[in-house]
Amino acid sequence: MSDSPHRARLIDLTTEELLTTTRTVRRRLDLDRPVARADVERAIEIALQAPSGGNKGGLRWLVIDDAATRQAVGEVWAECAEVYLRRLPADDPMIPGARRLQRDMGRVPVLVIPTIQGRPPSGGGLAGTASFWGSVLPAMWSFMLALRARGMGSAWTQIHLAREEKVARIVGIPSQVTQAGLLPVAWTVGTEFKPARRERVEEVVSWNTW
Ligand SMILES: Cc1cc2nc3c(=O)[nH]c(=O)nc-3n(C[C@H](O)[C@H](O)[C@H](O)COP(=O)(O)O)c2cc1C
Repeated sequence: MSDSPHRARLIDLTTEELLTTTRTVRRRLDLDRPVARADVERAIEIALQAPSGGNKGGLRWLVIDDAATRQAVGEVWAECAEVYLRRLPADDPMIPGARRLQRDMGRVPVLVIPTIQGRPPSGGGLAGTASFWGSVLPAMWSFMLALRARGMGSAWTQIHLAREEKVARIVGIPSQVTQAGLLPVAWTVGTEFKPARRERVEEVVSWNTW
């Protein structure tokens, strides 16, 4: 079946609005509205424009839209979330949203696992580690921006990496490939998102000396 009736269009956002309102969406992911494969692939195509160390590339994107596979991966994610959430103080404001995502992860229409060839370097020091992760994380962020530009959304998540090998077994990711996270992809319920409260620029910038 063609998925063209479900195709996204770019929504009306300035570049600065896009950059300041792309949020981790946990409670406003539409579980029922189909996501077109072509939109996911376009967002990945955009993400491939992100920088990588030495321009080596090496990213592979595992995209899951099969219901049983989503459920199986969602269960692993939920187990990891349980461990993480139990350690948070009971009044942490993130808990309600995280609990919702814990419940829903396996039912989000598409789950995307960005991966990078190789394993994180054990030698090479800080520069090697920075280069390894720095070659995949910008692309993940570009992917989230590309979704937001289309009225869709995601949540930046990495907790399942604690049980990376369980997910690798479910979807057949080879041992020499590193998963960088798990990005649920859905239409968002409404497209209005606000800039988050962050540090003021005066608090975080020093000029010339620390
Ligand atoms: C390195 C990193 C790891 C994260 N891991 C998770 C995660 O495993 N689960 C989750 O629900 N959110 C995760 N987040 C999302 C953050 O909680 C979120 O970015 C933060 O609360 C700020 O909210 P915002 O993205 O809406 O601005 C992660 C974000 C980053 C940058």
